[in-house]
Amino acid sequence: MPSTAESNGNKCTGGLTGKKIILGVTGSVAAYKAAYIASALVKRGADVHVVMTEHATKLIGEATFWSLTRNRVIVDLFEQPTIPEITHVSLPESADLLLIAPATANIIGKMANGLADDMLSTMALTVRCPVIIAPAMNCNMYTNPVVVANLGRLRQYERIIVEPDTGMLACGEEGVGRLAEPDKIIRVVEETLMGGPRDYSGVNVVVSAGPTREPIDPVRYISNRSSGKMGYAIAEVAARRGANVTLISGPTDLAAPEGVEVIDVTTVQEMHDAVLANAKDAKVFVSAAAPADFVPAQIRDQKVKKSVKWTLELDQAQDILADVGYNKGNTVLVGFAAETQNLETYAMEKLGKKNLDLIVANDVSAGSDVFGSDTNQVTLFSKTGEKIEWPRMSKREVANGILDYVKRHFLEELS
Ligand SMILES: Cc1cc2nc3c(=O)[nH]c(=O)nc-3n(C[C@H](O)[C@H](O)[C@H](O)COP(=O)(O)O)c2cc1C
Repeated sequence: MPSTAESNGNKCTGGLTGKKIILGVTGSVAAYKAAYIASALVKRGADVHVVMTEHATKLIGEATFWSLTRNRVIVDLFEQPTIPEITHVSLPESADLLLIAPATANIIGKMANGLADDMLSTMALTVRCPVIIAPAMNCNMYTNPVVVANLGRLRQYERIIVEPDTGMLACGEEGVGRLAEPDKIIRVVEETLMGGPRDYSGVNVVVSAGPTREPIDPVRYISNRSSGKMGYAIAEVAARRGANVTLISGPTDLAAPEGVEVIDVTTVQEMHDAVLANAKDAKVFVSAAAPADFVPAQIRDQKVKKSVKWTLELDQAQDILADVGYNKGNTVLVGFAAETQNLETYAMEKLGKKNLDLIVANDVSAGSDVFGSDTNQVTLFSKTGEKIEWPRMSKREVANGILDYVKRHFLEELS
């Protein structure tokens, strides 16, 4: 049986070639997701060795993993090794990474306390390489102070924890504890081993960000509270992942992200023209800007003098996203919906009306802390009918999540 990913017939597309990864799978209902993770790591060139706990084997078969990795799956600590390199000491010594996904409360407890009563927990004590732990469990287990303390202890020992998601759990309860998205776990692996994935290499991505300013007279304008941080985060993350990024930016205080071509615009008309000129050649267009919906009907040549009352007449502004959507060709279109009420209804309406593939909805009502903040809490609505609510995350994490989603659902050639 060939022992490396390169020789197993799978197409290797990534930068994990030559990396030996131990994938620990424990007795969580999310164990089936480890099959996707194993396969994705193999596709990226890694030599993946799956170590399962006894309880994990009750939830998913060993055959799934050996057929995906073409490596022998290890469960029993006392089984006589058929290959000398594969023991509880030798495999960890040569490994570049130990990833435990999903990780039960049990393995977390054992690792936090130095217990070694099976193959995986023994290897976890032997390894010298980075260790990534992706917990998955019922929300009451995850928030139990003992589990919280165990995870805190593992963080102190520099174990990398991939926080679980919040949402509907397998047990039917709603809460925190769902295994993080497999793509996110893989990204953490890539960041740990190679400083980040380059999965968007050569892909043209156009992003719009920030507000626009619509002049009223030579000294005044109307604008909005957009800081541009979300769009800049998307541009930065896409560039880091290898994309050719053009960022069309309204006025912001932000520094241009490294490796990104920035086109500065001021008015909605300028943003419209720049977006339409660039989006047609893009594989992905992310409209994270907040261009004006209304523009002054008349721009005064001279400063309007202070008077008792001034009624400003506003016209509807050009609809940039609708114009891109009308002629979108093969471009994947991602929009944002910032609403103060009826978030889902308005987001779904915008998704259809503007011919989008994905809309990222966020609540910008008073107290929601979006504008200018480094974090965001969003819900994704896809044209496929999928709805995904994410917990509050950094805008960079949201950006990575959006790019993961787009890649997985709309850019199959990159997966
Ligand atoms: C169907 C099923 C699903 C389970 N899912 C989880 C889970 O998601 N997370 C968890 O911590 N324990 C879960 N458990 C409990 C663990 O399997 C149990 O604590 C076991 O001792 C873990 O052993 P291991 O860590 O050696 O795999 C589940 C049990 C069953 C029967």
